[in-house]
Amino acid sequence: MSSLRLVPDAFDDPKQWWVGQVLYQAYPRSFMDSNGDGVGDLRGVMARLDHLAWLGIRALWLSPITVSPNADFGYDVADYYDVDPSLGTLADLDALVAAARDRDIGIVMDLVPNHTSIEHPWFGASRSSRDNPKRDWYVWADPAPDGGPPNNWVSVFGGPAWTFDEPTGQYYLHNFLDDQPDLNWWSEEVRLQFDRILRYWFDAGVSGFRIDVAHMVIKDRELRDNPAATDTDSFMERMRGQRQEFNSLRPEVHEVHRRWREIADSYDPPKLLLGETFVEHLDDLFPFFGDGGDELHLDFNIPFAHSPFEAASLADMISRTEAAMPARGTPVWVGSNHDISRFPTRWADGDPDRARCALMMLLTLRGTTVLYEGDEIGMVDTDVPRDELVDPVGIRFYPYAGRDPVRTPMQWENVDGGGFTSDGVTPWLRFGDLACNVADQRDDPDSFVTLTRDLIALRTSTPDLATGAWSAIPAPDGVLAYRRGGYQVVINLGDTPVNVPGLDGRVVIGTRRARERDLAPGSLTVGAGEGVVIAPS
Ligand code: NOJ
Repeated sequence: MSSLRLVPDAFDDPKQWWVGQVLYQAYPRSFMDSNGDGVGDLRGVMARLDHLAWLGIRALWLSPITVSPNADFGYDVADYYDVDPSLGTLADLDALVAAARDRDIGIVMDLVPNHTSIEHPWFGASRSSRDNPKRDWYVWADPAPDGGPPNNWVSVFGGPAWTFDEPTGQYYLHNFLDDQPDLNWWSEEVRLQFDRILRYWFDAGVSGFRIDVAHMVIKDRELRDNPAATDTDSFMERMRGQRQEFNSLRPEVHEVHRRWREIADSYDPPKLLLGETFVEHLDDLFPFFGDGGDELHLDFNIPFAHSPFEAASLADMISRTEAAMPARGTPVWVGSNHDISRFPTRWADGDPDRARCALMMLLTLRGTTVLYEGDEIGMVDTDVPRDELVDPVGIRFYPYAGRDPVRTPMQWENVDGGGFTSDGVTPWLRFGDLACNVADQRDDPDSFVTLTRDLIALRTSTPDLATGAWSAIPAPDGVLAYRRGGYQVVINLGDTPVNVPGLDGRVVIGTRRARERDLAPGSLTVGAGEGVVIAPS
């Protein structure tokens, strides 16, 4: 069978070095602790680079490492130009960038442009008086006639998005915690500050940025009320009671993204911009790639991650994403991150077979895949008791446990300290089940981590799987099947074995390793909770 390419082969294009590749997210506090204080750090990340190189990762995205009082664990920045002392120093970061480069791994940092920490000196100046030159760096507004908040916006983290500041008699906007005041992106001075921040880190050798709440940075200039949610709106919209029409997804945000893109593309090779475009509806995602691909290079597909793990729903998400893409750029596939339940729990409900199917899907779709630390070993969410919760969202919304269950330390070894911290040290968040760990899986040919590594190796060494066109293969109910160039991927998410017609070739990798080398002479029977990749014969 010949390999069919409908999209340009960007695989070897240094200008799009992320295309077809696998990126990895580390949550630095939880990845590796080098100094025995129970909190992960940059020297720890460096000590584990060989694991990432062994997996075949092309870039490492670090959740925020800049100075923060940690009201939201780094997503409240008090200094954009320095490393938080609990994580290390600028010299540690330099060393990490160099050591990663030696392994052909780029370091991608996290940029938080929507808001700062309440402790950032910019906010200190802004709140000091109504006529401070930095007053309009943040969003301030007079009270409503009844003295209440200026409009009806609610915070993503619950409650009103406004807090009254007694001394100056105005409210400031915060779409997240009240410790996270929103910057005013209508201000040219704010834009210039972030141009500087981008260049500062790019010049320091950082390969790109993941951009926090990229879709939200600019708000309606007139601060109009959001419309009430209706029965047909998403779960989150109905929970909030409103559609975020005026405090998110504003058309003017694209101008800001194009400005960042020009800066990123002025480097050779270009620096990567990866948007955290946490939209509720899939169609809202595509504009962030820009017309003709002139905005963010990559945008997280969160509606896909939130899809039920059912063949029909996944196929719908994938085909709609693919249909919107070619002219714009490359899709981004993600199953877990530091905010959402891990895919072996959320999609697979702890069933290892289904988790392996999810992994195969993530690593065989066209585009860029981002794995979250622990995905490679099939780590599941960890129950964190109420009195140990540290995430402000979990504390506020208990019994919904928030995000601590997905932020517990990386499970390196089944020993005291988990290979994450020193023997006898209590980590900042409890460990999950250490029986699931890197060391025990590494030399086991049937393990989750071996499957991860083999799928990545196959993807990055096979042009059809790296960049070959995606198209759906008609398949029986419950089966997700697609072509990548001349390869075929068949994943049976149903409860019974299914004979899938229209296949041809030889199994090169299976979620059950025993299937490898099986022939598919016209059709193949695929077990319940089983996936295979078939190479053309
Ligand atoms: C999205 C980040 O991923 C999340 O962890 C954070 O709490 C919010 N943005 C606010 O910065």
